[in-house]
Amino acid sequence: MYDHEDLARLQSQSLKMQSWIRQQTFSPENTKHLRRFSSWEVSELIFGINQSTFRGRLASDPSLPGGEVEPEGRQRWFSLDEINELRRRMKVNRKSLMPPRPAGKRAFRVAVANFKGGAGKSTVALHYAHAAALDGYRVLVVDFDPQATLSHSMGLTDVAEDYTVWGIMARDLIRETDRMNDALVGAESGTALPQRKIPSSIRDLGLSELRHQDFIKTTAWSTIDIIPSCANAAFVEFASAQYRHLNPEWSFFAAVSRYLDSLGDDDYDLIIFDCPPAIGYQSMNAVFAADMLYIPSGPGYWEYDSTTSFIGQLAEALEDLSHGFDGTFPAGKMTLPKSFADIRFVMTRFEPGNDLHRAMLEAFRKVFGDHVSENTVEMTRAVEQSGRFLSSVYEIDYREMTRETWRRARASFDRAYEEFRDRVVVAWDKI
Ligand SMILES: Nc1ncnc2c1ncn2[C@@H]1O[C@H](COP(=O)(O)OP(=O)(O)OP(=O)(O)O)[C@@H](O)[C@H]1O
Ligand SMILES: [Mg+2]
Repeated sequence: MYDHEDLARLQSQSLKMQSWIRQQTFSPENTKHLRRFSSWEVSELIFGINQSTFRGRLASDPSLPGGEVEPEGRQRWFSLDEINELRRRMKVNRKSLMPPRPAGKRAFRVAVANFKGGAGKSTVALHYAHAAALDGYRVLVVDFDPQATLSHSMGLTDVAEDYTVWGIMARDLIRETDRMNDALVGAESGTALPQRKIPSSIRDLGLSELRHQDFIKTTAWSTIDIIPSCANAAFVEFASAQYRHLNPEWSFFAAVSRYLDSLGDDDYDLIIFDCPPAIGYQSMNAVFAADMLYIPSGPGYWEYDSTTSFIGQLAEALEDLSHGFDGTFPAGKMTLPKSFADIRFVMTRFEPGNDLHRAMLEAFRKVFGDHVSENTVEMTRAVEQSGRFLSSVYEIDYREMTRETWRRARASFDRAYEEFRDRVVVAWDKI
């Protein structure tokens, strides 16, 4: 017979070997690098201007970044920073190349969520983050999923759970409890009101000492930062249930929202949440902090079925919060009952030539009306794992695969992203 002590022994054995195994199984390029983008991509695909106009501009103003020419190549290749400098300094037909952002607003927050596993959430989150960065936006992504697909795709492999959403939640529990205790003391000095106690096992982790920047990591993309996740952060679901018991008045679902409120309004433009395939403490935090709910679904019947029950359960959970916390909830940038500036569905892994897929898309439109995105994310071989890191079609150099496969995949993500971006810009004005 085996019990928890055997499990603990197996785990400590594994921990001792972990870094050795990592070294043995990792390929030499342990860090992710972002490639350069060709002048064809920069002009036609990124700035939407023709190549000769772009070349003409570069030739007429030598102070503009000129990119690099590869040995034996003719094209110039530009880094993301160079692209951003060009975007700031160039005007085409007297129009700025900067992406739209309503003045005076904080960053717009989008939760990519569905509790159907494998719906395409992480793929969509990764591609939209990259597309948005190439569009000129400053992006923060938050990985709410301890599977950490998005963190790994963005090149983060060595993450401690303190620096994940779990850390943010535990820190918030301590801070909120202290705030409530102080308020009690202030209001009722002299009376012996019960103070909420946080056990030293949580307090001594030092999480309340962390500053908000400590949770934010940089990525290979200079304009994309990430709050990553890791397998150990799975603990959050289990721990959160206990934390609620320690302080039942703690608005556990608003921890991440409060955290994001502490960022500067102009630090980022877009904040994208990748959610786990479940409704739990982490995904409720994502949903509550979000201005837009973005729901990817595959083109099968069971995915439709599961998407339907997802929105039903989410509705119930959000209603429960309104009853349980309305009146006690401290007003921040989010209020109860929770409302969204927009709710969108998008069909993923779609094959235009597949009759069943087309029928499913029609059904989605009948049921969810104009909440369903016009554009789908098509099934493509271009997003399969290439090497150690999962890469987006934007990261893959088009010379590494059939040009047609790359272009089709990129065009599909571009269309879906552009529609998403247009919706974001409209919804942004409502917050
Ligand atoms: N458009 C696409 N074309 C081809 N493969 C895709 C596409 N979208 C997703 N996939 C593949 O489907 C699988 C699941 O995708 P993804 O990880 O994005 O789903 P998820 O909803 O985040 O899953 P989970 O619920 O486990 O977090 C992955 O192997 C991914 O590469
Ligand atoms: Mg995922």
